[in-house]
Amino acid sequence: MKAIIAGNWKMNKDNGQSRELVLKLMSLVGIDELKNRQVILIPPFTSLSILAELVMNSPIKLGAQNMHWERSGAFTGEVSGVFIKQLGCEYVIIGHSERRHLMGETNKEINRKLKTALDIGLIAILCVGETGAERDAGQTESVIEKQLTQGLEGFENEAHKMIIAYEPVWAIGTGKTATLEQAVEVHKFIRGLLKKPSTIIYGGSVKSDNIDQLMAHEEIQGVLVGGASLDPESFARIIQYQKFLDKPKISDSSD
Ligand code: 13P
Repeated sequence: MKAIIAGNWKMNKDNGQSRELVLKLMSLVGIDELKNRQVILIPPFTSLSILAELVMNSPIKLGAQNMHWERSGAFTGEVSGVFIKQLGCEYVIIGHSERRHLMGETNKEINRKLKTALDIGLIAILCVGETGAERDAGQTESVIEKQLTQGLEGFENEAHKMIIAYEPVWAIGTGKTATLEQAVEVHKFIRGLLKKPSTIIYGGSVKSDNIDQLMAHEEIQGVLVGGASLDPESFARIIQYQKFLDKPKISDSSD
């Protein structure tokens, strides 16, 4: 399986800046370096068609940051998964913590979106993760279990068709990356809840200086990068992560 290296640009980069970022990134990363990685760029909706043209003949894939659960209809301001697929997206983020916490998105809504993504053939990147307060209260596992069971209700056997992103809310945009030990522990917990082997990736302050250590562990099958994906040099370095020949033990992970 190829490691997933996904860049979520969030609400950043207008059309001109998007073009500039992709062209620079493609000049920094050689085709050969993309062989064992699945790079996914997830720009704002407004840049999707520009990026679709720019990455057309490259192995880089496109994703969207959200979609509605209905395919079309009277939902002013929403975006259809069918439309983003037509633009060239193969992936869509569902249930990002910023949507859960800032936009009040519920597990029930996430469940409907996941079902539609499955039906129309988009690969969902389902984000789960606990807040700092939930971690401190010892609720990490119960929160994640609830997000997964309610999110996947009705199609539990199809989780392997998605990517599960563990993004601890306290690590997003804070510079506080989960330690390798914390990330691996939750990845294993998630893996135990899923019926079939699934791809599980990590997100939360992934940077060029912690990517090698994260990717060295076999539990971490990829990363979902926010801030560091906005800078072509740092995202190129993340794509070019180095595989340690000797995998470090989890106990070596203190940083
Ligand atoms: P940062 O990498 O900026 O912490 O963001 C992570 C994230 O939310 C990716 O979806």
